[in-house]
Amino acid sequence: DRPLRIAMLGCGVVGSEVVRLLGIHTDELAARVGTPLEIAGIAVRDPGRVRGAAVDRELLTTDADALIARNDVDIVIEVVGGIEPARTWLLSALRSGKSVVSANKALLATHGSTLHDAAAAAGVDLYYEAAVAGAIPLLRPLRESLAGDRIRRVLGIVNGTTNYILTRMDETGASFAEALAEAGELGYAEADPSADIDGFDAAAKAAIIAQLAFHTPVTIDDVYREGIGAVTAADIASARELGCTIKALVIAERAGDRPGISLRVHPAMIPRSHPLAGVREAFNAVFVEAEAAGQLMFYGRGAGGAPTASAVLGDVVAVARNRVAGRQGPGESAYAALPILPMGPT
Ligand code: NDP
Ligand code: HSE
Repeated sequence: DRPLRIAMLGCGVVGSEVVRLLGIHTDELAARVGTPLEIAGIAVRDPGRVRGAAVDRELLTTDADALIARNDVDIVIEVVGGIEPARTWLLSALRSGKSVVSANKALLATHGSTLHDAAAAAGVDLYYEAAVAGAIPLLRPLRESLAGDRIRRVLGIVNGTTNYILTRMDETGASFAEALAEAGELGYAEADPSADIDGFDAAAKAAIIAQLAFHTPVTIDDVYREGIGAVTAADIASARELGCTIKALVIAERAGDRPGISLRVHPAMIPRSHPLAGVREAFNAVFVEAEAAGQLMFYGRGAGGAPTASAVLGDVVAVARNRVAGRQGPGESAYAALPILPMGPT
């Protein structure tokens, strides 16, 4: 069988792990997909940068446009981040019939509908499980497993960096700046960590979650947002005295009986007995409440190279299987037009 050829866009914290795991598991992945997966090229900014031993320097290029345009490329993996040039690259990939896997929540939360439309028009897949909650399978369950149910509420911790900072400040007395520096060294923080600190990353994830959970178009601009920049050691100590801890939460919920949804991300004091209080460091946890299913809890590593690469590769296998079978996976299901309520459901 002809191998499926992959264009990698980006080879940093996540991309280098994707390349490493593709190399280690070549034969198993070929067996699961039904044909081998091969890397056609890897677009980066600086080919001279030191990367893992798994990265074949011969595959590096700075010309992402040419790599995407190659006729022998079937799948494009985007692990660069940011809006441009990622938006232009992915639109061009989809329009030329390539399946796309992305970890880019900022892009999906801003231009998700445009990208979905391009994928539908070309009859190809657009998957982005890694964009929300790292390794945790969350978007596929929202989009597929729970598609027959009616989701009322999604609540949880979806940013590893801020959860890491709050955990270290609480447990070890680390300063905000020290804990943020550690989160950066561990590969959890965004290239510009203000995306994490100021809540933009969590707001983007909230928009993607809401779009899939409530089948309505939502962008990052619809999400009420407060970051953790104002949380001090004194706040954390006061919370502890009250038997509580501070966590940065995402809450997306339907209004009671009225049509509408409420979307917000902000730090909140929660009792230490609450299950979310035990979610430490860069772990994430998300509760989903659906009418028939009741309450479901998703938990796991929300950031970091290998956990995120796991989600990326899960998507790669899914889109590759779809290409082999000549079919397309489920796309966006934004058929409702629910009003966004300013704050809170009532
Ligand atoms: P990094 O900053 O580590 O890597 C980004 C990569 O993109 C680098 O290889 C960089 O090249 C390349 N790049 C940047 N700009 C360009 C450009 N203009 N042209 C070509 N290549 C470019 O980021 P991460 O790996 O941490 O994150 C990648 C994506 O995954 C982001 O969307 C992020 O939000 C998302 N994500 C990250 C997670 C994490 O835990 N880190 C978890 C979940 C999602 P070079 O190496 O030459 O600098
Ligand atoms: N910067 C993000 C976080 C990466 O800390 O959660 C995972 O999406």
